[in-house]
Order: sequence, then C-alpha cells, then structure tokens
Amino acid sequence: MSGFPQVAPSILSADFGVLREQVSLVQEAGAEVIHVDIMDGHFVPPLSMGPPACEALRGMGLHLEVHLMVEHPETTQIAAFAEAGAGTIIIHAEATPAVDYALGLIRDHGCRAGLAVNPATPTDFYEEVEVDLALCMTVNPGWGGQGFIPGSLEKIARMRELLPEQTVLEVDGGIDESTAGPAVAAGAQRLVAGSAVFGTDDPAAAYRAILAAAQSR
Ligand code: DX5
Ligand code: ZN
Repeated sequence: MSGFPQVAPSILSADFGVLREQVSLVQEAGAEVIHVDIMDGHFVPPLSMGPPACEALRGMGLHLEVHLMVEHPETTQIAAFAEAGAGTIIIHAEATPAVDYALGLIRDHGCRAGLAVNPATPTDFYEEVEVDLALCMTVNPGWGGQGFIPGSLEKIARMRELLPEQTVLEVDGGIDESTAGPAVAAGAQRLVAGSAVFGTDDPAAAYRAILAAAQSR
C-alpha cells in the first residue's frame, strides 16, 4: 500500500445500484482502501448494510476496511465480515465491555484490528490495548454529511502523541477539501471521506482533490 496520507472513500454515500462501478472510479483515481460503514440500529439509530456489501467488492484488489458501528461485535459480526473479505475490522470502544477480546478475535480471523472512539470518549482506552489502527471519530457516528467537529483537531494530536509509531491514525466524519489538511497537520494518516467523494458528480476528481489537500497541508 502506498504511503500516508491516504484517503479511504466510504461507500455509505455511494449509489448502491452501481456500487462496483462507483468504487472503480475512485480505484482508478488511486484509492487503495475502501471504508464500509456497518450500522445496527442500536449502537447508532440507522441501519446500513451487512456482509453482502463487503462481498460485492471482493476480488477488486482493494483493502476493505469495515467500520462496525454495532453493539457486541464479538458475538457474530467479526467472523461474518472477516469471511466476507474484510482486511481491517474496526470496532467501537463504546460498543462492548470485551474490547480486548474482540480485538484478539479480529486478529485470529487474519484481519488488522482497529479501535474507534466517539467524540465524547476519552483516549485512555488506547493505553490499555494494542491496535493496528486507531479511529478518531470527528462527527458523532450514524450519518454521512455532518460537519467536522472543530475540537477534534486537538484530540487527533493527543492521540498521535500517545499511540505507538506503527499504529495508523485515522479520522472519520466531515472530511473534505477544507478539513483534510488540518486533520493531517494534527497527525491523521488515513482520512475517511463519504459524501465529499460519492455525494459529488465526479467521485474520482473529488477523491484526487481531497488527497491533494491532505498532501499539501
Ligand atoms: C459516519 C460514518 C462515516 C461516514 C462519513 O457514522 O462512520 O464513515 O460515511 O461520512 P462523511 O464523510 O459524509 O462525513
Ligand atoms: Zn465510518
């Protein structure tokens, strides 16, 4: 995979009628990681998609990053998404008391293990566990198209300071051409972008513009 910063388009805002075509557009523009947002109607109010959405993107040569906004992901969902082709599985610190167990389960299934925190969740979780990826939510999870919470920049910087160097620091929510640069300057390495990519008429151009903004911070 190429170096940082990276932009990971989120298919939450894509046209599901032509999902693979939409993803091909950003892949041809250089995207290597695709973000798949899974919502259970409990941890967050909406329902989004399940393992078939992941399976639909299998075999395209992309790294599928599954963001599980679901309660108790350790019961069945980690195994289901690993089998559906996930390369990275991200769970939420707020979604289970069994965070360490769930992270171990992700690794047992051969995936990279990610841990996300909501805007109000303190960062000290990361002092207790080892993760391949840390996800700082820069909006409250559940919906695309929300505004970047400005106070997140300080949190990103704090997280970068406490995380080991090899842990990828990702941000998710409200990333566009104006917020990508400041997020990278604060320490973010992978930026999820949904509506700013797939909510536009030209996802490839939007992807390239956000990446350029991230690179020129
Ligand atoms: C929000 C999801 C995000 C969402 C981001 O709960 O986790 O990944 O797709 O959407 P934008 O980029 O529109 O804020
Ligand atoms: Zn997400």
